Amino acid sequence: MNLLNEKLTDVQFNRLKNFIETTAGIKMPYSKKIMVESRLIKRLNFLKFRDFTEYIKFVFEFVDGRKEIFNLIDAITTNKTEFFRENEHFNFLRKKAVPHILVNLSKKTDKKIKIWSAGCSTGEEVYSIAISIEEERLLGLRLSDFFIYGTDISVKVLKTAEKAIYRLDSVRSLPDFIKKKYFLKSKDKKDLLVRIKPEMREKSMFGRLNFMDDNYGLEGKFHIVFCRNVLIYFDKAIQQAIIRKILKHLDKNGFLLVGHSESLHGLDLPLKKIAPAVYVKI
Ligand SMILES: C[S@@+](CC[C@H](N)C(=O)[O-])C[C@H]1O[C@@H](n2cnc3c(N)ncnc32)[C@H](O)[C@@H]1O
Repeated sequence: MNLLNEKLTDVQFNRLKNFIETTAGIKMPYSKKIMVESRLIKRLNFLKFRDFTEYIKFVFEFVDGRKEIFNLIDAITTNKTEFFRENEHFNFLRKKAVPHILVNLSKKTDKKIKIWSAGCSTGEEVYSIAISIEEERLLGLRLSDFFIYGTDISVKVLKTAEKAIYRLDSVRSLPDFIKKKYFLKSKDKKDLLVRIKPEMREKSMFGRLNFMDDNYGLEGKFHIVFCRNVLIYFDKAIQQAIIRKILKHLDKNGFLLVGHSESLHGLDLPLKKIAPAVYVKI
């Protein structure tokens, strides 16, 4: 069956748009129609539906179709990421944030540094954090243990994050010593894959979390939250509501890092900007 010419009608697009905007908060202007069409055609093919009418009916009207909502959201989200993306944040983490947190932790019984990668996609951000902290530790700083929690709305990306297997291309620009220390090469050389070493995988955990949920169900507070290149998908009111919920899980004086192209300007939040795309909770 050739579905290449299958098009979403405006009514169908609007139904999907309303659903995505209320469920995931992601803005869906009309300019995204072609992107939505081409991503969902893959789902139609996979499920062997003849057209969008059948697919939409299945998703919204059939009990069995409810499970497809996860795949629909997977198909709509943009998961672009890379190791050490916006590298200044990792320098900030090593040189400023971690030493600062350690001073405060020295007075407490629970000495674990807790970091949340909110909207972690396939996990490169989580492992870049783990590698950065571990490198600092190996340099002889007396670091307590650390833990990174990665969350995302997309179940597909979380599976990749947990497996921690990446294309060799994705680590090509990293220094050789980092590759040797933290990545395993595939036994079959033809595979062109690498995997994060178990010691680093053990520092992290992943879970599904939708920023639109009223309650994030997280226990305790984090010292640092990375919420980078996520807010751009939401309008200002939703950004403000999401960050307020995130801040409930950030320690007082904890750090919030957003993407360098994301601005919190004009939002009413208990945050002080201390460096480009770096905020402290006040
Ligand atoms: C472009 S990636 C950013 C990945 C990483 N933080 C970085 O900067 O490289 C944005 C991620 O936000 C996730 N996302 C979008 N809407 C979300 C929502 N409502 N709740 C949780 N995660 C969401 C997407 O699934 C995607 O993986």
